[in-house]
This record gives sequence, C-alpha cells and structure tokens, in this order.
Amino acid sequence: MKLPLEAYILILTFNCVYLAKCKRESRIADYYNTEEVFNDYDDSIYPEDEEDFDHIDLPEDCKILQYYVLRRKCNDLYPEDVAENYRDPFVSAHDQYAVFHFTDDGVENYFLTFHHSALFHCDEIEVRGVVNFVCTNASGTQHHIKMRSGYMQCLSYKSDMVDELLAACSSDMNKSSNFTALHYANVLSSLRSDCNVHAMIHRWLLLGLAALVISFEY
Ligand SMILES: *[C@@H]1O[C@H](CO)[C@@H](O)[C@H](O)[C@H]1NC(C)=O
Ligand SMILES: *[C@@H]1O[C@H](CO)[C@@H](O)[C@H](O)[C@H]1NC(C)=O
Ligand SMILES: *[C@@H]1O[C@H](CO)[C@@H](O)[C@H](O)[C@H]1NC(C)=O
Repeated sequence: MKLPLEAYILILTFNCVYLAKCKRESRIADYYNTEEVFNDYDDSIYPEDEEDFDHIDLPEDCKILQYYVLRRKCNDLYPEDVAENYRDPFVSAHDQYAVFHFTDDGVENYFLTFHHSALFHCDEIEVRGVVNFVCTNASGTQHHIKMRSGYMQCLSYKSDMVDELLAACSSDMNKSSNFTALHYANVLSSLRSDCNVHAMIHRWLLLGLAALVISFEY
C-alpha cells in the first residue's frame, strides 16, 4: 500500500533537484550574459572557410544584414520614457544599447543592439548570424564574436520607437527607414522561458492524486 506514496515522494525529490538545477543554470546563463564573459571571444571554433559561416539562423527579414558592414554611431542608456511608452518586453530602462548603421541604395538603415555585449567594443560589425559577428575595433583589429545568447527581429516599416531611440542616442541621425534590425544580446534565441514552476507543481499534484487513488485500491 505504501509503495505508490513512496514512489511519489521519490518523484517529488527528483523534481525538486531538477528545479534547483534549472534555477542554477538560469543564474549561470544570466552570469554569462554579463560584460566580462561576453568579452571572452572564442575564435577557435571558426573554420577558415567562409562557406562554413552560416547565415541560416538570421530571420528571413533580417538577411539583408549579411551583405553590409555596419558602422557604430553611438551608445546610450535606454530612456525611461521609451520603456514606458513602448514596453518592449526584452529591454528595461537604463539598459545599454548601441546603434550601428549602413547605407543601402542611398537610404540609411539602422541596427540597434540592446544589453551590453562585446559588440559595444566594435567600430564596425558584419552580421554572420544571430549570435555570430565579425568585429573590427577602433585600432582596426578584426575578430569573431560568438555570443551565448541573442535574439533578432527586423522591422520592415518606419518606427516611432526606433526614431526616439535614434534621437536619444545622437542628434546626428536620420529617422528610421523601412528596415531596422533590433538585436537583443541577453535574450535566448529560442526564447526559452524560465524553469516552469507552475507546470511542475501541476504535475506533482496529478501524481499525488494518482498515488492516493492507487493507495486506496490496494
Ligand atoms: C540624413 O540626413 C542628412 C541631413 O541631416 C542628409 O544630409 C543625409 O543625406 C541623410 N542621409 C540619408 C542616408 O538619408
Ligand atoms: C583591438 O583589439 C586588439 C586585439 O584584441 C587590442 O590589442 C587592441 O587594444 C584593441 N583596440 C582597441 C581600441 O580596443
Ligand atoms: C524599402 O523601400 C525601398 C524603396 O524605397 C524598397 O526597395 C525596399 O524593398 C523596401 N524594403 C523593405 C524591407 O520593405
């Protein structure tokens, strides 16, 4: 009679261990997204062969980025009023952001990157993927940057939010064009949510119920 209950307690224990592990991993993920570790570039994993760079993880509407060298314009802190008015779920007021630009067909287009990352040390970047970049720093040294997380989305329309971010960053920029890339360094590309505590509690309750029912049957 006690067996199902014992099994239940065992499963509960496993779940607790899993939850603790999951929480720890997300803390580690947060840690890795800090500036220091971002600067820990890993050049070695890149093959010499350009073909091996894949652009495939760029969202379809961002693929134009791969054909340009983007130049950094400015860095700033995310303004409170933009955070309040537009409520971008991935950025908070005072987060750092940087603006890069490229000219396509005489039109100036912008690439905004949010959350501090290695990109902030680049004067120029080439976008090789959502987490892959080639960076040229102020002294002209080129290296590859591979980030541990990243999410990118591209707008195909003029955006007031982007205009406000551009204006806040530098007075020397035109309004947004019909293409703007938004890159978030600290967001996992899969947008994997945190450890799902609710789903887990649900499962515990169901299992507990099953254990009780089985206990009564004996
Ligand atoms: C941006 O605006 C300036 C004027 O402030 C203008 O001279 C320049 O042509 C514009 N550049 C683009 C690419 O639209
Ligand atoms: C550019 O990168 C090289 C190599 O990492 C480094 O020695 C140099 O100081 C960097 N220059 C600037 C301006 O950060
Ligand atoms: C933006 O507008 C130009 C013409 O002004 C057009 O050629 C281009 O395809 C448009 N881009 C997007 C992403 O809609």
